[in-house]
Amino acid sequence: MCGIVGAVAQRDVVEILVEGLRRLEYRGYDSAGVAIIDGDQLNRVRRVGKVSELSNAIAETPVLGGTGIAHTRWATHGEPNEKNAHPHVSGENIAVVHNGIIENHGPLRKRLQEEGYVFASDTDTEVIAHLIELELKTSDSLLEAVQKTRKQLEGAYGTVVIDRRDPSRMVVARSGSPLVVGLGIGENFIASDQLALLPVTQNFMYLEEGDVAEITRQTVRIVDINDKEVTREAKVSDVTHDAGDKGPFKHFMMKEIHEQPEAITNSLEGRITETGVVTETFGAGANELLSGIEHVQIVACGTSYNSGMVARYWFEEIAGVTCQVEIASEYRYRTSVVPKNALFITLSQSGETADTLAALTKAKTQGYASTLSICNVPGSSLVRESDLAFMMRAGVEIGVASSKAFTVQLVGLMLLVLSIAKHRGVDEAIIANIVKGLRELPGQIQQSLSLEPVIEALAEDFADKHHALFLGRGSQYPIAMEGALKLKEISYIHAEAYAAGELKHGPLALIDSDMPVIVVAPNNDLLEKLSSNMEEVRARGGQLYVFADKNAHFEAGEGLKLIELDHIDDALAPILYTIPLQLLSYYVAIIKGTDVDQPRNLAKSVTVE
Ligand code: G6P
Repeated sequence: MCGIVGAVAQRDVVEILVEGLRRLEYRGYDSAGVAIIDGDQLNRVRRVGKVSELSNAIAETPVLGGTGIAHTRWATHGEPNEKNAHPHVSGENIAVVHNGIIENHGPLRKRLQEEGYVFASDTDTEVIAHLIELELKTSDSLLEAVQKTRKQLEGAYGTVVIDRRDPSRMVVARSGSPLVVGLGIGENFIASDQLALLPVTQNFMYLEEGDVAEITRQTVRIVDINDKEVTREAKVSDVTHDAGDKGPFKHFMMKEIHEQPEAITNSLEGRITETGVVTETFGAGANELLSGIEHVQIVACGTSYNSGMVARYWFEEIAGVTCQVEIASEYRYRTSVVPKNALFITLSQSGETADTLAALTKAKTQGYASTLSICNVPGSSLVRESDLAFMMRAGVEIGVASSKAFTVQLVGLMLLVLSIAKHRGVDEAIIANIVKGLRELPGQIQQSLSLEPVIEALAEDFADKHHALFLGRGSQYPIAMEGALKLKEISYIHAEAYAAGELKHGPLALIDSDMPVIVVAPNNDLLEKLSSNMEEVRARGGQLYVFADKNAHFEAGEGLKLIELDHIDDALAPILYTIPLQLLSYYVAIIKGTDVDQPRNLAKSVTVE
């Protein structure tokens, strides 16, 4: 989704702004722009398409100046064209960038038009620029005008404003869309994600909901939602500068697939003992808060939802607590019944997904015993709003289609399952055995990555296909769901997942030689049942691609291509079987020539509803 970068410095900032936008490209966008104050001029450059188009335009007509704002836009109101690209201006003075949606932009636009303001775009954002210009007429400062404007805006937004008449400052407002201040020496910055600012600072201050801040080269003055002056703690980030580089890989997604063994190792460090889980990992007071839990409600979107679906099997089977999993956009709008002693869990890579955040806000009024977030971004809204948090430590994930965040999320979920299991008196040997398995998991994943050439060759079979069916049973059913999601996200092949037992209730009608059927088949109690489902496909001329345990002794042959994995205990098998499916979707996308890291129409972090 949209990205914001801004700077107030003595040096020319255009390079900093454009590099910041490049680092936010992963979020998905359709146009980009900058506005910079140069002496008494406000210069603006906007382009449809990639940040490289914008940077080529700037190379041809340089823009200079130490105060500027920049933006990548993901269209919500108005087509993706240059006219609608940010920054938006009011007259010659005010320039604004904005993430999110202004819900009451219709009436505001009408009122401003009556006041004589002429609109140059179809966006909701432009009302902010004109409103600020209007409020400035009766305000002593830009800060005051933005405060007054904020009170008239409904919706979720993060916005940054500059005024040509006073290049010494920018004013920013946060309401439902993240903003982080980057603190430099004699210069300060703003961005929607700290990643954008890592080349210039490691020192960050996260704004809270409702904050408005005035940022100069030397100062950051913040007023909260009640107009009270406040301070926010500055923190040094441990995310490294080159987290945004691809290294030897062609795509971020491939880099991230290969980072999984290390990401899981990092995530486990200090959190498991020889035989158990360090429950304090989930935050201060976790032991007490988790001790009485009898029911778990998981809410998430996209890939994070699929990991919740795996965890449902684990919570009920291993810890013996009931568990429900729901898509956040559904949960937030329906009436739900909260059982006694229930834990509300949000799963999110970014910690900023609008629907998941809204679901958490609702849950906090519903009487849950506690709220917990499993999240990859420290300081994100979900983490700050939850009672407990498990920081995933997967490292920055840039590919829009999530890979390492999924497997690390599953590791976090398993640690939580084991912590609750311990409180519920589950046999310590069972817990110790899974902990041992977790320790071995990075090595097993590394081993599975060696299947890459085999899977690359297999991907050729999918080049001319328009549909694919993924089958799994038990906790592998959500892995089939995740496999199907990956394939559709990055190769644009329509893919569906079914619990294999459901095959004869519909999807069997689709089976023919044109419909590849991918089966996830670890060696477990359900293997025989799954084999029967596979025969049903084969008997109808379907082509099977089976990812199976070596010990399952399947035989490749007519209608069945076999990819064997080393044996793994059933509990952790879903994590391992994810890897070949990620590789498959990656190589199919390569053959189809799609944009792997930034698939069309999708965004990394969906911060609007
Ligand atoms: C978007 C991304 C997905 C992600 C989902 C949830 O749709 O493209 O990859 O799974 O959002 O994001 P979250 O950050 O909440 O896990």
